[in-house]
Amino acid sequence: MSTREPGAPDDSSDALDLTGVPAALRGSILDPGVLGQVVNDLFRALPGGGPSVAGVAFPVAPVSYPITSPPSDVTRLAAPASLPVSAPASLPVSAPASLPVSAPVSWPLRVPFGVPSDTAPDASALPYFLTETRPYAGNTSINTVPGLDPELVPALDVAHRGFDVGSVRRDFPILEERVHGKPLIWLDNAATTQKPHAVLDRLREFYEHENSNIHRAAHTLAARATDAYEGAREKVRRFLGAGSTRELIFVRGTTEGMNLIAKSWGARHLSAGDELILTTLEHHSNIVPWQMLAKERGAKLRVAPVDDDGQILLDDYERLFTSRTKLVSMTHVSNALGTVLPVKAMVEIAHRYGARAIIDGAQSVSHMPVNVADLGCDFYVFSGHKVFGPTGIGVVYGRSDALEETPPWQGGGNMIVDVTFEKTVYAPVPSRFEAGTGNIADAVGLGAALDYLERLGMHNVAAYEHDLLVYATDALRAVPGLRPIGTAKEKASVLSFVLDGYRSDEVGAALDRDGIAVRAGHHCAQPALRRFGLETSVRPSLALYNTRAEVDQLVRSLQQLTSARNRRG
Ligand code: ALA
Repeated sequence: MSTREPGAPDDSSDALDLTGVPAALRGSILDPGVLGQVVNDLFRALPGGGPSVAGVAFPVAPVSYPITSPPSDVTRLAAPASLPVSAPASLPVSAPASLPVSAPVSWPLRVPFGVPSDTAPDASALPYFLTETRPYAGNTSINTVPGLDPELVPALDVAHRGFDVGSVRRDFPILEERVHGKPLIWLDNAATTQKPHAVLDRLREFYEHENSNIHRAAHTLAARATDAYEGAREKVRRFLGAGSTRELIFVRGTTEGMNLIAKSWGARHLSAGDELILTTLEHHSNIVPWQMLAKERGAKLRVAPVDDDGQILLDDYERLFTSRTKLVSMTHVSNALGTVLPVKAMVEIAHRYGARAIIDGAQSVSHMPVNVADLGCDFYVFSGHKVFGPTGIGVVYGRSDALEETPPWQGGGNMIVDVTFEKTVYAPVPSRFEAGTGNIADAVGLGAALDYLERLGMHNVAAYEHDLLVYATDALRAVPGLRPIGTAKEKASVLSFVLDGYRSDEVGAALDRDGIAVRAGHHCAQPALRRFGLETSVRPSLALYNTRAEVDQLVRSLQQLTSARNRRG
């Protein structure tokens, strides 16, 4: 067994990927001066600092470094209510949802360091927080605050390590709303998600300090707006794990994204007799554009079936491929049933047959970590409003080789380099796909939403939601006459059901009277419901701010509805 050098990290760090952890921190005994330097470096990298920045939290990581003697200036924790800052991916930091209370310092102190926020924290380590104790006012860059001198404080007793739903809920002002005198319970997240302060504040800040058209002027606000817009593209890149911002196109949402691919890539590459594969689980945005294209090009749509639980069987899917298959488009998560599709395997199969593969991420990005490089897809599309961002903004990721063979689809300003009446030279990607003035502010708002999620950590979000979905699935069994629709092994968010003796809209209206918002109808996915012999269902859908208490209220309301009818006989 080898002997560790003094100050080297624990054995537990052996397997840790320290990418992003500054070399100065690796294997050394740390002191607050070094830590302060890290915080200063972090803040220096933040765009403009932020209002009321009071500290930065290092989430638990599976590595710790001993500090053997107490630095004299470590005294207390000053925990801000929220952390309106985001850490660049290159820095080993992410902020948790909340800062816990102060606790006594004991020595020697072990200081866990944050690893990139996509890395799941090790629950066995304790979190510690660095805080700046002086008030920090204003919107100036924090490196202009003289003598930032963070304190080093242990934080104990965190209920959900890395995820505190109470704190998350406080970030969403609409959750304070009352409906029919009852607290709002928002369970219509598959239709749209609510917006955190971070997004609302960012939109306001944009319109108050940065608003301008982009890319086209020499003045200061044009530069600010362009930086903000392109900065948002970089945030999307990081969030999706794309290789380059040139692979990311801002669109209005998933529907426009699918239409873009159909009308540009599809029209160029599909000929009479070619085939496209979809699945039974698609929502209308991922059916109708392909139907239109197939009709126009004389191509044929084939549809992968699902089993009685709502799962795609890979053998059935693969059987649909022929030498004419050019394209596959599949949802990542079904909006009607909640099934998580085995998209990585489905992409691999598509590629084996030489077909391009599109993933519809509308229902997945807000519930699980997504990495397009890992999934291997050619295109990935999502909507901002389903991931806590504004409406009217969405993203098409196109792998560079796929975009290279995609012609522009709309012509106009912004997508050109030179125009004469004889010909137009198009701008490079991604501008060539963004004709006209885009939705600048909402792209910036989307960037703020993704920053927010990165601070929470998508692994934390996924783990929390998984537990909640398991709890809710079980709890709904207590409602007499309730039949769940979609019972796949791998599910996210969605709890579709029908209730014996009730129309879906009746159930939706009854729940609304109790302040509970669910979608009741066909969910813009008629073929998926018809596979189960249904025209409609009731669809509660969960997100990161929902709680077991809300699920309990849903169950109680459904029980009251059914028992009222039973009493009436
Ligand atoms: N696709 C959206 C939904 O599932 C509209 O409700």
